[in-house]
Amino acid sequence: APLLETCNNGGGGFNQEKEEPHIKRSDFPPGFLFGAATSAYQVEGAYLTDGKSLSNWDVFCHSVGCGPNGENGDIADDHYHLFLQDIEMIHSLSLNAYRFSISWARILPRGRFGEVNPAGIMFYNKIIDTLILKGIEPFVTLFHEDFPQELEDRYGSWLNPEMQEDFVRLAEICFSYFGDRVKYWITINEPRMFTEFAYESGTFPPSRCSEPFGKCLEGNSDVEPLIVMHNLLLAHGRAAKLYHEDFKPKQNGSIGIVAHCDMFEPLTDSELDREAAKRAFAFNAGWVLDPSIFGDYPKEMHEYLGSELPSFSLDEKNFMKNSIDFIGINHYTTTYTKDCMNSGCSTTGGRAIRGFLDTIGERDGVLIGELTGLEGVYVVPRGMEEIVNHIKIRYDNKPMYITENGYSSPDVHEERVNEILNDVKRVEFHSKYLASLAKSIRTGADVRGYFVWSLMDSYEWLVGYNVRYGLHYVERQTLRRIPKLSTRWYKNFLTNDSNIL
Ligand code: NOJ
Repeated sequence: APLLETCNNGGGGFNQEKEEPHIKRSDFPPGFLFGAATSAYQVEGAYLTDGKSLSNWDVFCHSVGCGPNGENGDIADDHYHLFLQDIEMIHSLSLNAYRFSISWARILPRGRFGEVNPAGIMFYNKIIDTLILKGIEPFVTLFHEDFPQELEDRYGSWLNPEMQEDFVRLAEICFSYFGDRVKYWITINEPRMFTEFAYESGTFPPSRCSEPFGKCLEGNSDVEPLIVMHNLLLAHGRAAKLYHEDFKPKQNGSIGIVAHCDMFEPLTDSELDREAAKRAFAFNAGWVLDPSIFGDYPKEMHEYLGSELPSFSLDEKNFMKNSIDFIGINHYTTTYTKDCMNSGCSTTGGRAIRGFLDTIGERDGVLIGELTGLEGVYVVPRGMEEIVNHIKIRYDNKPMYITENGYSSPDVHEERVNEILNDVKRVEFHSKYLASLAKSIRTGADVRGYFVWSLMDSYEWLVGYNVRYGLHYVERQTLRRIPKLSTRWYKNFLTNDSNIL
């Protein structure tokens, strides 16, 4: 039976969307990359093995306990030891790309204050070589949340412009050791989420927060996130410049940045809410992408933040401008946006760094989409087409990759393993989001790849191991990987040009 019927008959399908369900591989261009993604801290484990130093996440989780039951990434999926098996899983799914991140503390345990760790280089060499041997394109992220703790202790990491130099050192090492084989580089994953969690809500290390959260121990300035983002962007820009000037001519790869790209729809048709939706884009994805493409922050940010917004010098603007060859889009959800400039908003709306707006999951008592396992994350397939089209227009159709898209099942404990393995909702999620993506491609969007988050269940930051995004289930006691129904669907989609299970 066609997939959608199966799901609807099974009950609880996402009925509210009228998306084309019969999406096929052949609806995408021939060279399109289909992959899965992970990040170092979330899967590698081996947190002190072979010369790796403690990262900001190791130290943070050891001191405060991270997941609801103190879970952390010390062992994670032990990908450090099981990577061959994991690459075999990727291969048997028939994926032609794999996105992973480098553990900075494995490569440069003391940042630029110490030597390169040969064991770290060897580990990633083995991953890259094995992928290439199997015809899988490595897509490598240089910074995905974790860095050597020493850089925090010495000079306050991303609050300090010195961090730019450390990042460029990491980039240089990676380009020189791996760039002969890695053709797709991502400098930084989701800078906006990093600033939000680490410097606004203070829930991620180094736990600094700004008003009105004010619950954490240190820092309480709205300016810190702006400074941190400025340093992240300049670090990106300098690394990209280095790549374009010194490596790309020989290595012929491309470099991009990954932005967290939620879609924002106006709550009502009013001019104010429509303006708020525009600001929401500017203060989120635009905050990262405008500087990386146009060389400056979005005009909305200038307008509302004035002199608080750090500025780029002329030289910086020049190297920031067109510093990316492609845009990495992490897309998970869509919300409604309500203006908070003139009307009162109850939650975080008044804060300058949020663009004076609220994002809301329901209208007239109706949810925008079914809720997933993460708070505020709803299933809204049309949002994929909308965000891609928006980015296409704003950035003149620069090449795009969907670097993450995934479905987290609501907190399902291991005892209900059958429910975990029979992940019908994940299958339906990906079919519908892919159908929506295909629509944007049909009307001209230059999208070149799609990565499922994630290859396997892994450590989901503060929520531990029970919020699952994986195509594979990882049994915690044994770390055995077990394919979920969604692996069957993905493989069938790729090899049989079919969306039927
Ligand atoms: C985006 C982040 O890049 C990734 O680390 C995280 O696990 C997923 N979103 C899901 O929340």
